[in-house]
Amino acid sequence: MADDIIAVKPEIAAKARVDAAKRDAMVAAEARDADAFWRSEMTRIAWMKEPTKIKAVDFTGDVSIKWFWDGELNASVSCLDRHLATRGDQVAIIWEGDDPNSDSKVTYRDLHARVCKLANAMRKLGVKKGDRVCIYLPMIVEAAVAMLACARVGAIHSIVFGGFSPDSLASRIQDSACSLLITADEGRRGGRKVPLKANADEALLACPSIRHVIVAKNTGGTVAMKDGRDHWWEALTAGEPDTCEPERMNAEDPLFILYTSGSTGKPKGVLHTTGGYMVWAAFTHDNVFDYRDGEIYWCTADVGWVTGHTYIVYGPLANGATTLMFEGVPSWPDNGRFWQVCAKHKVNIFYTAPTAIRALMRDGEAPVRKHDRSSIRILGSVGEPINPEAWLWYYRVVGDERCPIVDTWWQTETGGILISPLPGAVAQKPGSATLPLPGVKPAIVDGEGNILDGAAEGNLVILDSWPGQMRTIYGDHPRFAQTYFSTFPGKYFTGDGARRDADGYYWITGRVDDVINVAGHRMGTAEVESALVAHQSVAEAAVVGMPHDIKGQGIYAYVTLKAGVEPTEALRKELVAWVRKEIGPIATPDAIQWAPGLPKTRSGKIMRRILRKIAANETDGLGDTSTLADPGVVQELIENKVG
Ligand code: WTA
Repeated sequence: MADDIIAVKPEIAAKARVDAAKRDAMVAAEARDADAFWRSEMTRIAWMKEPTKIKAVDFTGDVSIKWFWDGELNASVSCLDRHLATRGDQVAIIWEGDDPNSDSKVTYRDLHARVCKLANAMRKLGVKKGDRVCIYLPMIVEAAVAMLACARVGAIHSIVFGGFSPDSLASRIQDSACSLLITADEGRRGGRKVPLKANADEALLACPSIRHVIVAKNTGGTVAMKDGRDHWWEALTAGEPDTCEPERMNAEDPLFILYTSGSTGKPKGVLHTTGGYMVWAAFTHDNVFDYRDGEIYWCTADVGWVTGHTYIVYGPLANGATTLMFEGVPSWPDNGRFWQVCAKHKVNIFYTAPTAIRALMRDGEAPVRKHDRSSIRILGSVGEPINPEAWLWYYRVVGDERCPIVDTWWQTETGGILISPLPGAVAQKPGSATLPLPGVKPAIVDGEGNILDGAAEGNLVILDSWPGQMRTIYGDHPRFAQTYFSTFPGKYFTGDGARRDADGYYWITGRVDDVINVAGHRMGTAEVESALVAHQSVAEAAVVGMPHDIKGQGIYAYVTLKAGVEPTEALRKELVAWVRKEIGPIATPDAIQWAPGLPKTRSGKIMRRILRKIAANETDGLGDTSTLADPGVVQELIENKVG
């Protein structure tokens, strides 16, 4: 079943802007003269000064990546100003509230005005080009406005997902020394309120770099406002003009920082620059989703994640699309919500995560069938491997076997999609992200870094740069080179494993490092461990991913308590709550096992390979345990496995 091929339907190929022949031509054109190819693609966005230089990349040594580096532009102009003449009255953003009775529409003209007003107000608060601005907002239109206003004045935005705790927010603000925070009174999700301003107040106790806070009124809930520091968005922007001179940015000036989890240490600030990122966002959004003028496009991600950056805001708006922003969750008020929203707004392109599909699958077909999905033309998947069973359900039940599915593989670091079918050009195989986009050069290498040809399985690397690639880790370029280019020198290492079949199709097998993917959210095991050991009762902790039917992976923690502490059910609950408070609900451990000892090598290194196998109930193939300092602990852990 998994290796089934679903050919491109002739009626889809006939209408697609990119069919197989066109795709071949693109791949060939890029191979023949990459500079010429990107020189033509870069015109997808608006330049104040057209670049003459296309690419200067070195994946060795200190690592340096530059695209379009003598060009000048402002990302907000590409997303707003240049559309005013042709589509000023077209809806740019459809906002659908958590409450099914609340929605609103914002035209390109309105959006431009709102962005300019905020940008003017930000300038008055002293925000300048290169300053860092933290955005901690729910899925409301203000989130897109805030992003674009930062871009307008040349400030670097750093969005922190609204589900993160005050501590997580504080550490991100501190790392990039943000001077302004944009937040809201409260968020709404699934009928509940999220105390964003209260969280922010707590975080800001530890953030002396923040001089001002702009607060959007969303729920109208009561919040504390600190004199001189906190400003209501509405009052602050009311008197501002609705035009604003955009800052001239070099193509390589930063556009945003987005923190993401890695194998070790604290989350790192992935930095994207302006020109290459914008070209990549526009290029991929257009080709992968075969976007047509006038269509309604909906990506269900949150702007707190990279998918929301590239495929709710920058890509669709650069392409003049109508993009839907959804404040709620798929299961509220009932599990038909996604399809109800598709029917209500006549959504044409629908892009979501496998975890949502698996959760909805569990509830059967009726909630889907109840709603009219005839407007949907293309379905997308992102964030984690989609198992063939979920793929086929999505295809059959949601798409009525009519809509191609684009399974898009990419990462925060890649800025946009790298491996995905083009819906009118590439036959699909359920569970495979299929082929690289034109200009993307993946390879599979073995543990020593040798490139494997033909059908092969190993580590996924990318051999050469693409415009949307991250440029550095904010404030720590050596860590950038070390994290991504030292494992396999001269190659970008994705941290993912992959298999390539005889047709050249890629099948992503998941992370090969100590990052786990919980319901499509990236989580560093080291982060959860450091939260656990920060608790007074915990001596040591080791965290691994475990298979989870809905979430893809769950969080499995082995905890060694301090001498004399009793392992009780109450303490287990307390630790779960502790991690939620320290990091946020997305880091909630699914299982905690009391571990009197952890399997360690004689040099003291925890053997996670063994812990992963125990958590996955794969204890037959534990491999060599003879190098352990105390092989006895393994048997103890197996016997006391949780769940
Ligand atoms: C995983 C999200 C399989 C992968 C855009 C990657 C996927 C990590 C897919 C990046 C996919 C994302 N198939 N795995 N279609 N898309 N991943 O940075 O492990 O939040 O390395 O970016 O998600 O997660 P991130």
